Amino acid sequence: MALKVALLGCGVVGSQVVRLLNEQSRELAERIGTPLEIGGIAVRRPDRARAAGVARELLTTDAMGLVTRDDIDLVVEVIGGIEPARSLILAAIKSGKSVVTANKALLAEDGATVFAAARAAGVDVYYEASVAGAIPLLRPLRDSLAGDRVNRVLGIVNGTTNYILDRMDTLGAGFAESLEEAQALGYAEADPTADVEGFDAAAKAAILARLAFHTPVTAADVHREGITEVSAADIASAKAMGCVVKLLAICQRSADDSSIGVRVHPVMLPREHPLASVKGAYNAVFVEAESAGRLMFYGAGAGGVPTASAVLGDLVAVARNRLARTFVADGQADSGLPVHPMGET
Ligand code: HSE
Repeated sequence: MALKVALLGCGVVGSQVVRLLNEQSRELAERIGTPLEIGGIAVRRPDRARAAGVARELLTTDAMGLVTRDDIDLVVEVIGGIEPARSLILAAIKSGKSVVTANKALLAEDGATVFAAARAAGVDVYYEASVAGAIPLLRPLRDSLAGDRVNRVLGIVNGTTNYILDRMDTLGAGFAESLEEAQALGYAEADPTADVEGFDAAAKAAILARLAFHTPVTAADVHREGITEVSAADIASAKAMGCVVKLLAICQRSADDSSIGVRVHPVMLPREHPLASVKGAYNAVFVEAESAGRLMFYGAGAGGVPTASAVLGDLVAVARNRLARTFVADGQADSGLPVHPMGET
C-alpha cells in the first residue's frame, strides 16, 4: 500500500519536491519498499502552483484539513516561518504523521516543542534541508557522530551572503546588485534581511550547536552580526592582507568544557584557509571531533533543486522508519552546558 504525502508549500523548494517525487516515483518505491503518493498540496495561491505545472486536483488552501486527514502518512513542510508552520506541524504530529521540514527558523526558535511532541506521539521529525541545503550534515552530526565528542563547528551556512561577498571580492560588484542576482537565482529568503543581517545563519548555527553539543540552543542564544556593514573598502583591505571576508557560523566548546559559544559574524580569513575558497552560493562546514578528527562537509547550500534533494532523502528515511514502526527520539539530550553567545570571555 502506498504511503501518502501531504506537502505544505509549493514555492522554490516545494515545486521541485513535487517534480522529483513524480519523476523518480519508481526508484523511490524500490528504495522504500512501497510507493509514495502525493495526497495533497496546501498553498496560499493555487494559481501560482498551477503555473508551476502542479495538478489542480491536488491543490488545497485548507492546510490544517490536509495535515490531519486520515489517509495522510507523511507531511512535508516547506512554507517556512514560525506560524502557521508550527501549528500545522504540531497538528500533523498529534495526528500521528511523520514530518519532514526545511524550517530552520521554527526549529531554532521552538524546536524543543516540536521534538517533544514528536517523541510523545512516537513519530519522526527530520530536517536535513534546514541547514546547508543539499549537504548531508545534520544526520551525520546526529547519527554518525553520536559516539564522538564534537569540539567545534565552523561554517559558511548562508548561500546568499557567500554569493554577495564572493561577487564583491572577485568582480568588485556592488552589494545591491549581487543581492538582486542571489534573489533571482532562488537563493535568498522571502525577506532577504534574514540573509544579509545574519538571522538565517544564526538559526542554522543554533541547530548545528544543539546537535553538536547535545544541549538546547535557540536562535536567541546566538550572537549575530550580518554583512550589511561590510564595505567595498573592507573587502579591498582584506584583499591587500591576503584575506577574504566570509560570514561564518562558529560553534565551540570552551577549553575547560564548562560552556559553549555560538556566534555568527563576518571574519577575515587567510586565502589559504579551506573555507576561503568556497565560492558562490556554496556552503561548507568544518567539524572538529575528538576521535573522528577534522571533517569537512561541502556542497550546494541553497536553491530549489539541491534543497529538494535533502527533503527527498528525509522522506525516504521517515518512510522506511514508518514501515518498520520505529522513529528517532530526537531532541531529548541535554548535556546541561550553558550557552554564552560569544563563547569564553
Ligand atoms: N536563504 C538561504 C541561503 C537559503 O541563502 O542560504 C538556504 O537556507
